[in-house]
Amino acid sequence: MSEGRRIRVAVVFGGRSSEHAISCVSAGSVLRALDRERYDVVPIGLTPDGRWVLEADDPDRLRIADGKLPEVDAAGAAVVLAGDPTRHELQVHEPGDVPQTLAGVDVVFPVLHGAYGEDGTIQGLLEMAGVPYVGSGVLASAAAMDKGVMKALFAGAGLEQAPYVVVTDRDWSRDREGALERIRTLGLPVFVKPARAGSSLGITKVVDDAALVEAVEEARRHDPKVVVEAGVVGAREIECGVLADEDGAPRASVCAEIVVHGDHDWYDFEAKYLDDGADLVVPADLPDGVADRVRELSVLAFDALGCEGLARCDFFVLPDGRVLINEVNTMPGFTSISMFPRVWQETGVDYPTLVDRLVRDALRRGTGLR
Ligand SMILES: Nc1ncnc2c1ncn2[C@@H]1O[C@H](COP(=O)(O)OP(=O)(O)O)[C@@H](O)[C@H]1O
Ligand SMILES: [Mg+2]
Repeated sequence: MSEGRRIRVAVVFGGRSSEHAISCVSAGSVLRALDRERYDVVPIGLTPDGRWVLEADDPDRLRIADGKLPEVDAAGAAVVLAGDPTRHELQVHEPGDVPQTLAGVDVVFPVLHGAYGEDGTIQGLLEMAGVPYVGSGVLASAAAMDKGVMKALFAGAGLEQAPYVVVTDRDWSRDREGALERIRTLGLPVFVKPARAGSSLGITKVVDDAALVEAVEEARRHDPKVVVEAGVVGAREIECGVLADEDGAPRASVCAEIVVHGDHDWYDFEAKYLDDGADLVVPADLPDGVADRVRELSVLAFDALGCEGLARCDFFVLPDGRVLINEVNTMPGFTSISMFPRVWQETGVDYPTLVDRLVRDALRRGTGLR
């Protein structure tokens, strides 16, 4: 990277997961925030079927307009990122034209949620290509995507969480009764979840044993690996942002609370995405000791998975003040009104500064041994 040249940032968004639209909206906010004096920005959209296309540098196209969710369409020129680490280049293919080369991508901001984005796959591609990228590496991304692996790592680090059992495809097909017996040791209610999903998709709260088998089948429609957890009753849902400082050390933000509205019993898909489903209270009204505990546990959870750059850590706080870890998201919602930017805003880091810090953190870290 020569002196004086702007740093070329590829913002990659959309993608094959169910969170395609939210990723587009997040990317619109990131594009709007990147300082064009310092950064030369290349927006790259991934279509829902996985095609890579060069997008217009126009954040307004990525808004929710007239109730219509944004989506990457395949109309743009095809983009190819070479896996060859000596090249660092993007090839752009316009139909009928000789491929053009866009030289020197310095860093990628994968604003992707869920499968094929937040799960270590694009991170692996970028490692192959030798291009630094924002956020966690291959292992931490994959570990945080799989609730079974994530919970085992939390347990290994001594973090308190709800009791759970993992039901693999083999467990379910070979010894269903054995699997159900293990689940029944958890009591009721339980939350039955696909191991690798998001946005609460495929999750069922089971209050009656008769509904258990169907709940497992429903989770299995999303992932053959299922995690069943004892329901945490009467808890508050508290979230905390973790961001790497200049040296890469994780720092925790103020805490926030999710307050789910009356018609929703828990933070299900509708409560997450319908306008009036839930309130985000920033900062959360918690006793000082509890807030400090959540912040401390957030850093421990971040380190338990080996995260880098950023993560949002989600907890249940019980009436007696006990704090249970629920999950870590390595690429949390990143629209300007999403939880992660809001807790940092409240902590004194505004959105453009947040984006800038993440890009610098990626460049400082480079690639290798991820
Ligand atoms: N063990 C549990 N006890 C009580 N509520 C739970 C439990 N697990 C999940 N939930 C509820 O379900 C929501 C989604 O579960 P979560 O594991 O965070 O899945 P996702 O990765 O889809 O966000 C949580 O925000 C919470 O409202
Ligand atoms: Mg969650």
